[in-house]
Formats: sequence, C-alpha cells, structure tokens
Amino acid sequence: RGPASVSPTGQDTGADPATAAQGCPYLTTAHGTRLQDSDHSLKAGRRGPTLLQDHHLREKISHFDHERIPERVVHARGAGAHGVFRGYGTAAKITRAGVFAKDKETPVFVRFSTVAGSRGSFDLARDTRGFATKFYTDEGTWDLVGNNMPVFFVQDAMKFPDVVHSVKPHPDREIPQAQSAHDTFWDFVSLHTEAQHHTIWNMSDRGIPRSYRMMEGFGVHTYRFIAADGTTSLVKFHWKPKLGAHSVTWEEALVTNGADPDFHRRDLADAIEAGAFPEWELGVQVFEDTEDQTVEGIDLLDPTKLVPEELVPVQPIGLMTLNANPTNYFAETEQVAFNPANLVPGIDVTNDPLLQGRLFSYLDTQITRLGGPNWTQLPINRPHAQVNDMLRDGMHQSAVHRGVAPYRPNSLDGGMPFEAPADERAFIDHPEPLPASVKERAHAASFDDHFSQARLFFLSLSEVEREHVAQAYTFELGKCFEETVRVRQLRALAAIDARLAETVAAGLGREVPEPAESPADVTPSPALSQVGGQWPL
Ligand code: HEM
Repeated sequence: RGPASVSPTGQDTGADPATAAQGCPYLTTAHGTRLQDSDHSLKAGRRGPTLLQDHHLREKISHFDHERIPERVVHARGAGAHGVFRGYGTAAKITRAGVFAKDKETPVFVRFSTVAGSRGSFDLARDTRGFATKFYTDEGTWDLVGNNMPVFFVQDAMKFPDVVHSVKPHPDREIPQAQSAHDTFWDFVSLHTEAQHHTIWNMSDRGIPRSYRMMEGFGVHTYRFIAADGTTSLVKFHWKPKLGAHSVTWEEALVTNGADPDFHRRDLADAIEAGAFPEWELGVQVFEDTEDQTVEGIDLLDPTKLVPEELVPVQPIGLMTLNANPTNYFAETEQVAFNPANLVPGIDVTNDPLLQGRLFSYLDTQITRLGGPNWTQLPINRPHAQVNDMLRDGMHQSAVHRGVAPYRPNSLDGGMPFEAPADERAFIDHPEPLPASVKERAHAASFDDHFSQARLFFLSLSEVEREHVAQAYTFELGKCFEETVRVRQLRALAAIDARLAETVAAGLGREVPEPAESPADVTPSPALSQVGGQWPL
C-alpha cells in the first residue's frame, strides 16, 4: 500500500488515516472531544423530549444518514484482494513498461464482480464477471479492466447504455434482479445480433464460474505495446488461472445462491486467509501493428471477435499472486476506481470504438460515485509513483498543496512542475494518422459478421458443455413472455448452429424458424473454419 501519511503531492499530511480515525482508546466525537456517555441522548427530563442541543446525537445520526454512496452503475457487486505481480522479463523486447521487467514486483489490487446485479444480489448469477486489476507501478498506475469473457456485446461505445438498459431489471417491477432471463435482454440481443457471440459465452458454463480463483480474464480490446526503440505491436491480454477454469452446473448455482449468496466472495477471502493464494499468469497474444490491423479476416479493433489461441498463441509475461484480503470493504473494494485510461509508458490504446468510449466513461462516472474529482487521493486509489498534477481544490480535497503557481509556465514556483524529459519514464501518445470523421459503423467483413465466431465457440465445446448451452437457452427463453422475442432469438440460434436451434426449439415446443441473416455474408477464412469441431450428436 502507498505511504499513507503522504499526500498525492508528496507532502506529509501529518497523520496516517487509520491512526487519525481510530487513534484514541476512548470514544470521541469526529472532532476528537472525548465522550463519557455513549448510549443516551440529551433530553428535557428523563421522559424527553430530546434536545436539538445534543451535538453528539446530531453528528452520529447525520453521519449515519450519509453512509451510503451510489453503487456502480454496472459491476455493482464485487469482491477484492491485494497481491503482487512479478514480471518474467519476456515482454521487455516489445514494451518499455517497467512492470514487465524480469523479477520486477509490483503491488496490485484486484476486484472481481458480476455485471448486472445490484450490490446486494447473489454471486452465482448467470452473468459475465469483471476482472479488474490495478497495478501500482513505479511509472504510474496502470489499470487492466477486463472481464472473464474474451468478447463484448457491442462494437461501439454508443451502444453500451442500450445493452445495459436491456440487461438491467425491468423498469416496472425491478425483476429479475440479477439474471439475463427476461424479455428486454433477449429483445436487444436478438435485434442487435452482434451481441450473439458474447451471449453464447454467457449461456455456456463460463457464465457460472465455480470460483473467482478459477476464472480466466481477458482485456477484450486490442492494446498497443511500445518498445524502448519506439517500435509498436498490438496485443490482447489474457489471465490464465493456475487452478484452471471451472464452472458449476445451473442446478448447483441455484442451490448455492439460496444457501450462500456470498459464495464467491467467501471462497476468495477464505482461500487467501488460509494461505491458498490464488495465482494467474498474465499472457499476451502479439500481432504486428500493420495498417489493416487484421488477422485471418478478424479485425483487431472489433471487440465482438477473439483471435483463436490456436492461430496466435498466448505468451506468458508475468505472474499475479493474491495474498491479502482487504482490511475494510468500503474503503478498499467499494472505493477502488478503475479506469482503462490509466496507462503507463509502453502501454497504449487502439482505435477500438468500444474502448474509445470507455476512456471517457470511468472517470466521468466516478465523479458521481465518489463525490467529486479527488478520489485519486483515497488510499486505495493513490498512485505509488510520485505525483505533481497541478489539479487543485474541488470536493473532498485532502491534500494541502504548497506554492502559488499551479500553472505552467510559471516563474513564481521556480517553474515547477517541469515537463518530463521525453525518455522512457514519460508517457508519449502514439501518433496515429487520422482520416476524415464519419458517424457510421465500420463495414469491414469482421464487424458485419455476427454469427461465425459464436458458431466457432459452440463447436469448440465438449458434448456435455453443448448440452448445458442448449439447456441454458431453453431455460432463459422459457422465461420470456413475448413470443416475437423468443422466435427472433431462435432465428439467431438457427444462424449459429442448426442442431442447437432444433434442440432449444424442441425444448420450447416450437418449430425452428428461418435463420437470421448477418449484415454481411461471411465465409470464415480456411484457417478459422479448422478451429473447433463438429456437433457430435
Ligand atoms: C465498470 C462503463 C465496457 C469491464 C464500469 C463502470 C462503468 C463502465 C461506468 C462503473 C465504474 C465505476 O463506477 O467505478 C463501460 C462502458 C463500456 C464498458 C461505457 C463500453 C463502452 C466494458 C468492457 C469491459 C468492462 C468491454 C471488459 C473488457 C468493466 C469492469 C468494471 C466496469 C471489470 C468493474 C470495475 C470495478 O471492479 O470497479 N464500466 N464499460 N467494461 N467495467 Fe465497463
């Protein structure tokens, strides 16, 4: 953890926050006045009424009244842990980021989450899981804000509020609280068929992991690595759990949610407390940074597509070990604020149209969620690198800034802070040529192909896993009230795999409709069609 008594500007704030909050053995007011009676309010006589004059009562009740902050708009329910990341040195040739240097150890904080449910929902919902990692590197904080599935529902940030509105509980009854089994979700994904690939991952066993410790993680988007000599490559991040990837069956999930809605957070905390520290290897798929940014017909800027590991293997670059539970859930797990825009020298973004929107969204939402713009000063969000940002004032400012000239250039504060020399410790935006602006979707074959990778995923599963997928669709669509929605989703399934559509349609007591059409007729490249297998039944 960061040096608690030092402000983000490197100044000594005079007190460790924990000591400042709980340093006295006696009960005090928030202002440090010792209190002799903790249980009774000040009344006019033994039988009241209570006097407004009781400053302790007013302070205690008022603070309690304001204990809750808004939950995250998505990923509200989560569990976190501290740990360490150790670089293997294998990425040193392709990125100058110091975090990957051989045997370099960097503290991390990870938060796992479900996406749709509220803070009080249950852990074993059928859902995507968040897998967000904050690396407190010497060169600034780097956040890898990923999921346990390698693709996303939508290709463009413009559609993110739509998909979230569709997956959140129905606006009238707020039902269901944490599952996809409802009309709005199936309405959206059957109309917006680029969501079908992510959806089939949700309907697979990946949607109900056995444990946070047994989940893969994916950066989803393609990022850019920049080497010391300035050469660039494109990468996709993968977390591989040492315990392997495991799931529960739907029946196990139902029973567990009833018996122990905290199953995943308990499992994580208990394992760490028992010294069974979970570990993940971080790996990258590396691609040449060519002009078309495409591999075997897959556009690397399309977040609804993955690049099969059989085509481009994942190369390990470091190991993460989670070895300490948070001391305080609110201060750490709730107040942690991730942001894919938190980058360090050697790691940069690409023009993926979904990622581009995320670069704005996180900081923006955290201004509401954490009450103003100064949440980088909260202990869990403090960089471990030195800071001198010229940002001033604002709600909940806790730094006592010195000097009179928070502007550049200045002569009154000796010209400080200086611009960093353009060496390996400075972040330099990667220069990308920009064409004319257009407000359209990319019409590359990859973006317009909505079904071939969903098929690829389905065919890569074992027989029993395919049965689980068919059962999940049957169960979920069986909960839909709208016949048009059900039929439209069956058409999408028919476009993914005929046998899958037949099995689900039979389960619902319906005929298989005509397959839905993809915006583009796409023939997967020969290399791609060899990945996966055939439906064995
Ligand atoms: C959380 C927006 C796509 C992973 C959030 C939050 C917002 C958001 C507003 C709440 C943050 C907070 O309150 O601190 C968006 C937008 C997206 C998008 C606008 C697309 C345009 C994605 C994708 C991934 C992802 C593609 C995975 C690769 C996460 C995770 C969290 C999160 C893991 C939880 C972080 C935590 O544990 O605090 N997102 N998101 N999001 N998002 Fe996204």
